[in-house]
Amino acid sequence: MTPRTANTVRELLLDASRALEASGVDSARLNSELLLGHVLNSPRLHLLLNAQLIPTNAQILEFQRLIELRALRHPLQHLTGTAAFLGCDVAVNRQVLVPRPETETLALRALNLMEGRGAVTLMDLGTGSGCLSIALALALPQAMVHALDISAAALAMAQKNAESNGVDHRIHFHHGNCFQALRAVAAATSDPSRGQANTSPGLGGFDLIVSNPPYIPSAEIEHLQPEVRDHDPRNALDGGHDGLDFYRILAAEGAVWLKPTGFLVAEFGDDQGASIQQLFQPNRGWSISRLEKDLSGRDRVIIVGTATRANL
Ligand SMILES: C[S@@+](CC[C@H](N)C(=O)[O-])C[C@H]1O[C@@H](n2cnc3c(N)ncnc32)[C@H](O)[C@@H]1O
Repeated sequence: MTPRTANTVRELLLDASRALEASGVDSARLNSELLLGHVLNSPRLHLLLNAQLIPTNAQILEFQRLIELRALRHPLQHLTGTAAFLGCDVAVNRQVLVPRPETETLALRALNLMEGRGAVTLMDLGTGSGCLSIALALALPQAMVHALDISAAALAMAQKNAESNGVDHRIHFHHGNCFQALRAVAAATSDPSRGQANTSPGLGGFDLIVSNPPYIPSAEIEHLQPEVRDHDPRNALDGGHDGLDFYRILAAEGAVWLKPTGFLVAEFGDDQGASIQQLFQPNRGWSISRLEKDLSGRDRVIIVGTATRANL
């Protein structure tokens, strides 16, 4: 057996941070602490306060295995199996996008708009892990959410996450291509002879649509960080030649699903704001729009209301 050079928490973290830094991993020390905390089932603070602790052989080997994978640029959240989003934990795997901090801005803006409205009906278009649906359902206890995705595997993960966060009774999951996923269900709901297995409001029935759609221009995907390029699902990233394919659908078909007092809140990529605002025109049922910045000060979220609203 090869003699171990690192035994204590302090030594393990030092070695691991060096290895991750050499592989170009951002925040190498933090990644090391989170992975060791995961293996030891201990909060980071506990590790830092017990730097002389010596983990078991099995724990050290498991930690070293995870550090090797992280150095190969597997996402941290795939190695721990979970991601934090607005105070809740969601399980993630290769079938769903790892929720991003920027998307918390989207969720917070959506919450601001819905607060005090009571029993609202929300649509989450492209739900992935379910992070937005779950965070909104948790913060708006009377809300009903309809979560849509083209990926059946993503919906299965989102359903599991809704259950683990205790909100599955208020989130309906629908499989299909954009609004098509809802059209069939809405038609069935309006026809009592077809049963009520999975109901949905129809056109004009939603207070809010949230969406973090695929918005990366196709040619840019190969230049992304390996964690994203090689591990996030392609259909969660690829927004077509200019990244706006999904936005064209949202702008063309979204307003008819909203109430006259409804909103769409959606995330977009760097420098896409102006082009996206152009898509949401009054002749498609939209009123004026507003762009919001993320925590790094970049325009990241569009809020747009339906035409009968004078302003946002
Ligand atoms: C960028 S991910 C967002 C996931 C999650 N909402 C989040 O913020 O982390 C986009 C999601 O849209 C889904 N998607 C892509 N094309 C779609 C389509 N045509 N119809 C419905 N969902 C689609 C993908 O499967 C993916 O889960």
